[in-house]
Amino acid sequence: MASDIPVWAVIPAAGSGSRMQQDKPKQYLSFQGKTILEHCLDRLLSHPAIDGAVLALQADDRFWQELDYQADKPVFITDGGAHRQHSVYSGLTTLQYRCGNDAIALVHDAVRPLVSHDDLSRVIAAAREHTAGAILAAPVSDTLKKQSDDMEIAATVPRQGLWRALTPQVFHLPVLLNALKQVIDAEQAITDDAQAVELAGYSPALVAGSEENFKITRPGDLALAEKIWLDQRNQQNNE
Ligand code: C5P
Repeated sequence: MASDIPVWAVIPAAGSGSRMQQDKPKQYLSFQGKTILEHCLDRLLSHPAIDGAVLALQADDRFWQELDYQADKPVFITDGGAHRQHSVYSGLTTLQYRCGNDAIALVHDAVRPLVSHDDLSRVIAAAREHTAGAILAAPVSDTLKKQSDDMEIAATVPRQGLWRALTPQVFHLPVLLNALKQVIDAEQAITDDAQAVELAGYSPALVAGSEENFKITRPGDLALAEKIWLDQRNQQNNE
């Protein structure tokens, strides 16, 4: 991929976040005076290689407008869908409408506000080099057990060569758009964007990313995210 193709963040933010047991979707929970979604946008849009963002929100979202989020780069809004892949697809078609096909889509969960600029730079550089795109991932460090039907250990799965997929996952726009269209048309269930690209016959690159870039999922995660965010800020201030 040429180095001058613009990079746009595509943020699926249309989930309900039921595991958080809150009255609002988890991307609208706050720490340090901002919602998780605003922290995400701040991180992504302050990176010099990112040109703007497309946000996929629930059609009846009543929280985004209230935030009155201000940015010095464009932020486009579109409706999300029933599953994450529908929301990403909607964001990609909006991006295509705005920018044409010559764009790189950097898909990032709205609930991972701690991604570092260093990791963003490395995954963008890898995606520019690799036709199939690139994703941030972390090597599996725990021993993995497969369960039997009666909740006993059926097998130990060798962890060598296994990685946990994180986001951002970064692709040339037409590659991901076509791959997701095939998955959606076939009503296949996938759990990340790379899986759609793999099913289309490509092999995206793995880029080792920081474990700090975790997905806020359960109630206790918010306090942990705030702690990591403060540590990252202190570290930045000391550099
Ligand atoms: O539910 P999960 O934690 O896997 O969500 C990951 C991301 O996908 C979140 O940012 C969530 O808002 C988004 N999502 C979406 N549309 C859906 C479901 C999830 O945009 N229908």
